[in-house]
Amino acid sequence: MGGKFLAAIGQTARLSPRMEGRGLNPSCPFKVYRHQVLPIDILFLMKTLLSTKLYFSLNTELCLDISKTGVILVDESIAKTHGKALQKTLGYEMIAVPSGERSKTRETKQRLEDELLRRKIGKKTLLIALGGGVTTDLVGFLSSTYLRGVPLILIPTTLLGMVDAAIGGKTGVNTPFGKNLIGALYPPVAVFIVFDFLKTLPEKEIKNGLSEILKYGLTHDPMIWEISLNGINKGLIETSIRCKLKIVSQDYDERLGLRHTLNFGHTVGHALELLSNFKMSHGEAVALGCMAESFLSHLLGYLPTRDLDEILERYQRLGYGFKQFDRKAFFNALMVDKKVKNGSPRFVLLEKIGKCVPFEGSYCKAVAMDDLEKMVEWMHANQN
Ligand SMILES: NC(=O)c1ccc[n+]([C@@H]2O[C@H](COP(=O)([O-])OP(=O)(O)OC[C@H]3O[C@@H](n4cnc5c(N)ncnc54)[C@H](O)[C@@H]3O)[C@@H](O)[C@H]2O)c1
Ligand SMILES: [Zn+2]
Repeated sequence: MGGKFLAAIGQTARLSPRMEGRGLNPSCPFKVYRHQVLPIDILFLMKTLLSTKLYFSLNTELCLDISKTGVILVDESIAKTHGKALQKTLGYEMIAVPSGERSKTRETKQRLEDELLRRKIGKKTLLIALGGGVTTDLVGFLSSTYLRGVPLILIPTTLLGMVDAAIGGKTGVNTPFGKNLIGALYPPVAVFIVFDFLKTLPEKEIKNGLSEILKYGLTHDPMIWEISLNGINKGLIETSIRCKLKIVSQDYDERLGLRHTLNFGHTVGHALELLSNFKMSHGEAVALGCMAESFLSHLLGYLPTRDLDEILERYQRLGYGFKQFDRKAFFNALMVDKKVKNGSPRFVLLEKIGKCVPFEGSYCKAVAMDDLEKMVEWMHANQN
C-alpha cells in the first residue's frame, strides 16, 4: 500500500513534514500516515492518551500557533470516562454531545454552536471531536461552518468511526428527508486512532464496525474479506483505514466516481435507516444493504452464484436478516439517495468479491424498477 498519494510512515521511517525536525525518535509511541492530498495526519497511537499530548507538544505549528485553546466535544455517554481522561491530558474545555443517530441533526448542531458562542470560543480554537461516527460527523460539520471554519481533530472511539466515519473528510447531519443530506467536505488536520477506546465498546458496536470493514473487502480488497474472518485486530483496522484513504485520495470530491464504490450497500442501507426513523444502527443497515445489493449484482448478471453464496453465508452467520418493511416508503426513500440521476436510483454493483463493476468509470448504474421489485421480493423472503 502507500503508492502515489499515501506515504506510510512507520515508527522507524521518515516523519511527516510537520513532525520533521521536532526531535521525534524511532521509539515514538505512534505511527503517522501523512496524507499527501489532504493535509491530514493519521496517527496510530500505540500507547495511551499521553501520545496525544506528545503529538500536541511536538506539533507546535498545529497546536500552539493555530490553537492555544481547544474544546473537546465528546459523546455524552463517554464524557465521564474517555472525555475526562482527554480533558485531563490536554487541559481543554469540554462540551457533551448527545449520543445516538437521532441526535445527528441540524437542531443539535445549532445548540452546540450556541454553546460555543456563549463561551466566546474564537476562530483560532481547536475543536476535538471525541466519539463515534455520529459525533465526528456532527462536530465535523459544525467545525466547517462555525466562524466559517475552525481547525478540527477527530478522535474516533468506535470501530466504525476509526475505519470509516473519521476518514475522508465527509461530515453532515440527517434530516427527516434522509441521511446525511446536509453537510460539507471538511478534512480535519489530524485523526487519532487510539485502539484502547475499543476496550469499552459493546460487542454490537464492534459488529457495526465490522460491517464497513466487510464493505471494503467486497468492493476493493478480497484480503480484507478473508482476514476479517479471524476477528478484529489492529492490523485489520489499519488495513481498512489505508483502503479508504487510497480511494479518497484518488477521488476526494467524488468527481471521478471512484468514491461511489464506498457507497456499496448504502443505497439500500440508508433507505432502511430512514424507514426505521434512525432507530436501526448504521452498521446493521449497511450489512443488510450489502446483502441486498449483492443480490442485485447477481440478478443483473454481474456477480457469480458462488460469490453471492459466500457473501450471504457470511452475513447470515453474523445473524443478519431483513425485517418487514413498507415497500412504497422504501422506494420513496431510495429516491433521496445522492446518486439518483434523471429520476432513477443508481447502485454500485459487484462483479466478484473484492471488485466493483466499472460503468464508464462512474461505478454506479441506474437499475430498472422491475429489478428493484425483485430485490424487494428477495429481501422479504429473507427475513429473520
Ligand atoms: N463521514 C463518513 O464518511 C461516514 C462514514 C461511515 C459512517 N458515517 C456515520 O457514522 C455514524 C455511525 O457511527 P457509529 O457506528 O460510530 O455510531 P455512534 O457514534 O452512534 O456510536 C455508537 C454507540 O457507541 C457509543 N460509544 C462510542 N464510543 C464508545 C466507547 N469507546 N465505549 C463505549 N461506548 C461508546 C455511543 O455513545 C453510541 O451509543 C452514522 O451516522 C453514519 O452515517 C459517516
Ligand atoms: Zn457507512
